[in-house]
Amino acid sequence: MSGFHDINGVLHVDNVPLPDIAKQYGTPCYVYSASVIRGQFNALKDAMARALPANRQPLLCYACKANSNIAILKLLQNLGSGLEIVSEGELLRGLKAGFSGNKIISTSFGKNESEIKACLKAGILQFNVESPDELDNINKFAGEMGKCADALFRLNPDIRGGGNSKIETGRKEDKFGNTADDILRLYKIANEMENVTPLGLSIHIGSQISQANTFKPAFEKLAELVHILRGKGYKVERTDIGGGFPIIYNDEQLLDLDEYAGFVRDIILPLNTQIQMEPGRYMVGNAGILLAKTQYIKQTPAREFIVLDAGMSDLIRPTLYEAYHNVRTVMNSNRNAKTYDVVGPICESGDIFAKNRSVNEVNDGDLLVIESVGAYGFSMASNYNSRPLPAEILVDGDNIALIGAAQTIDELIARENIPDWL
Ligand SMILES: Cc1ncc(COP(=O)(O)O)c(C=O)c1O
Repeated sequence: MSGFHDINGVLHVDNVPLPDIAKQYGTPCYVYSASVIRGQFNALKDAMARALPANRQPLLCYACKANSNIAILKLLQNLGSGLEIVSEGELLRGLKAGFSGNKIISTSFGKNESEIKACLKAGILQFNVESPDELDNINKFAGEMGKCADALFRLNPDIRGGGNSKIETGRKEDKFGNTADDILRLYKIANEMENVTPLGLSIHIGSQISQANTFKPAFEKLAELVHILRGKGYKVERTDIGGGFPIIYNDEQLLDLDEYAGFVRDIILPLNTQIQMEPGRYMVGNAGILLAKTQYIKQTPAREFIVLDAGMSDLIRPTLYEAYHNVRTVMNSNRNAKTYDVVGPICESGDIFAKNRSVNEVNDGDLLVIESVGAYGFSMASNYNSRPLPAEILVDGDNIALIGAAQTIDELIARENIPDWL
């Protein structure tokens, strides 16, 4: 069996019992299922294959901010994915995982000199441009390097989309994208630049979008601008329609992929552009769990707390977004349910994974998992409270590999220095 499932009351990932992983690698650790990632990639690819002709399939560029472990990148690259990156670090990870430059898209918001030059050196497919000054810099650095950069312009369609306000990116008050009028100006400027070729438009309106209808007006605004640009004689050869596909954390609705693909067929396909997509969360979110040990049970007059050895430094989504993640025991699933607050060991009242949550009765030392943390889990982890980053483990059938070693405290301290004048 693939993915996360119980066998005789013990939670497994594929064929591997999670207690074995805890024993071998310690806790807390992230555990990923390769088969779940493959299943997600293929589900999206298949939905697009059903809707669009074979010669017009989109380039799926995995948004690796969701999970940038190089083994996960390699897995997706093996499946034929492209890559969306937002920093020089992500570029170097992608290259190390084997992505060729011409399948990499840079969408970062404040592209710096070193990053732009590294992207140009790698021969990336395109820069999705966020602002006029950024366009100037791309042209300037490409000129210095004797290169010409392909550019798309990110449209801010002023549309609400996204599971919560912190993951909406397409409203006019958001920092992302450019207005249609600004893009008309930028396209003209870029068209006259020696070292930039303007080739199209991009959008990304938010994350965890469960209604296909939400995408429709954004696609329509994109299409309208394509027609206006072409009417002015400009080339528009590519449209990047972003990511934002949801996963189930609790009781959310999943996006109807066929309905979504239908909007792509009806609105984007007739534009006769290369279609690009940037799914992040959808590819990896449900493929990861955070495996943790119960350090203590603490009873106060108001509450009973499960104190885990994992904290908000390992998984910040509940603290940052009040995000819901299911919490369950690895074993003992026949014990009675009790109500707990599930917390970490960090000195913050916000270090809470779940409040007033019903969990099978737990004792000190019991293993728990926090589910659906494959996206924006490890990639947002920090060293707060001087806690080393946790290990990452990938399972594929019977295969298990440590794909990210736990940091040591020595490594944490080694980068720091006491000046001799102190
Ligand atoms: C430009 C861009 N593309 C793609 C993504 C991926 O979004 P998601 O993980 O919701 O698919 C993001 C996420 O912030 C983004 O900013």
